[in-house]
Amino acid sequence: MTTSFAQSLRLRTMLLGFKAVTRPLAWRGDPMARILTAGRDTDPYPFYEDARALGDLSRSGLGLYVSASHRVSDSVLRDPRFGVDTRASLMDMKKMLLDSKGRRPIHPVDDSFIALDPPRHTRLRRTVAPWFTPRALRDLTPLVEKVVGEFLDEVEGRDQWELMDDFAARIPIRIICEMFGIPEIDYARFIRWGTVLGATLDGIRSAAELARVRAALVDLEAFFVDLLDGRRRNLGDDLVSSVIRAQSGSDEFLREDLLATCELLMMAGYETTLNLIGNAGLALLTHREARERVIASPSSADNAVEEVLRWDSSVQYTVRAAVEPVTLEGVDLPTGSLVVLLLAGANRDPDVFPHPDVLDLDRPNSRDHLSFSSGIHYCVGAGLARLEAAVGMRMLFERYPDLRISGPVVRRRSRNIRGALSIPVSPR
Ligand code: HEM
Repeated sequence: MTTSFAQSLRLRTMLLGFKAVTRPLAWRGDPMARILTAGRDTDPYPFYEDARALGDLSRSGLGLYVSASHRVSDSVLRDPRFGVDTRASLMDMKKMLLDSKGRRPIHPVDDSFIALDPPRHTRLRRTVAPWFTPRALRDLTPLVEKVVGEFLDEVEGRDQWELMDDFAARIPIRIICEMFGIPEIDYARFIRWGTVLGATLDGIRSAAELARVRAALVDLEAFFVDLLDGRRRNLGDDLVSSVIRAQSGSDEFLREDLLATCELLMMAGYETTLNLIGNAGLALLTHREARERVIASPSSADNAVEEVLRWDSSVQYTVRAAVEPVTLEGVDLPTGSLVVLLLAGANRDPDVFPHPDVLDLDRPNSRDHLSFSSGIHYCVGAGLARLEAAVGMRMLFERYPDLRISGPVVRRRSRNIRGALSIPVSPR
């Protein structure tokens, strides 16, 4: 599949138009424009404070509404008058991916139930939920411990290794592949899919990026078509077989739903969780007292992970669109109005979290953060992500209590996914 010249020209024009609008707004201090134009190493938290200073709900010059208030964000996420279909007003990835013949690959986010409103959302979500119950996660714990132990064995004896690629990125890939019943794992391929697709949560920035995304999606789809074909012939007791059983035999689900559901489970838990593990590692490596707590009392790894989710979430914001006219905080929003909910800003709302910029493992309400969203789209995999990160931190610092950062930390370019691309570490 290739991008036609006309498409690429349209995209360039759109991007130039977008930059022409956002840059002057950012110079004038518009918080949302500043977030969207910020550089890789920019600390985003002051922008969220600026947004909060404008009120619990403010209007950006980009034509969006913005909130860094915990109360407003939580209430919008739980409000059935707001839906997830924001395509009419934002970049429509589905349209952008069309090739000259009008075909496009399945997109794990835009084609799956995370991007659907009820009732289809409810029906599709039900087909995967049993795999993420507290009981299912308890049964999974020994496997997570085994996998984390193996990765720590692999780096044993090395003077320096990479916390992201050697450890953080491998845990979520290996666990979801175990759940899917995939024995042979090509880590480099998964990391490529994750990095390319994760970056698109901010939107597409260039024609070259669009081509990379399309190639990654075609490859991802081919992988899942193969996997699903094989599994249909030989159903087992894995997550993929379970989704096939739950979705086949019902006219309401299509072949595309099955593909999109599996791709969503693979990708939604990947960049998010690896960056949670990376952010937790980085927080503990740079906060001596917190690290010593985790070493002295491994059960405090759970608190550490919860507080890192609040303090430095791997998902920074999400968007909702009004599906009917809504009055919110005294503002009349017409149908289709977009509200950007700055989840990471809400997590530092001083009305809910006193001294919000401080990483505090004793904070009694860390778990009230919105990093996993709220309402009907509350993250299905929240428990799995918590488990992987807590086991990861407990075992990492048990094995390497003197672990230290041994080179420059390189941040990701994404503004929505927050985390590091590289954290070189040394065991002594
Ligand atoms: C630190 C790790 C994770 C974070 C921060 C995270 C964050 C989120 C957020 C913010 C949403 C909702 C988006 C919205 O409301 O617009 C979401 C939904 C979702 N997440 Fe996660 N996630 C994580 C890990 C996982 C894992 C491990 C899985 C599964 C393997 C997963 C699967 C999903 C699915 C399927 C949805 C869609 C739920 C729905 O629409 O009903 N996530 N996640």
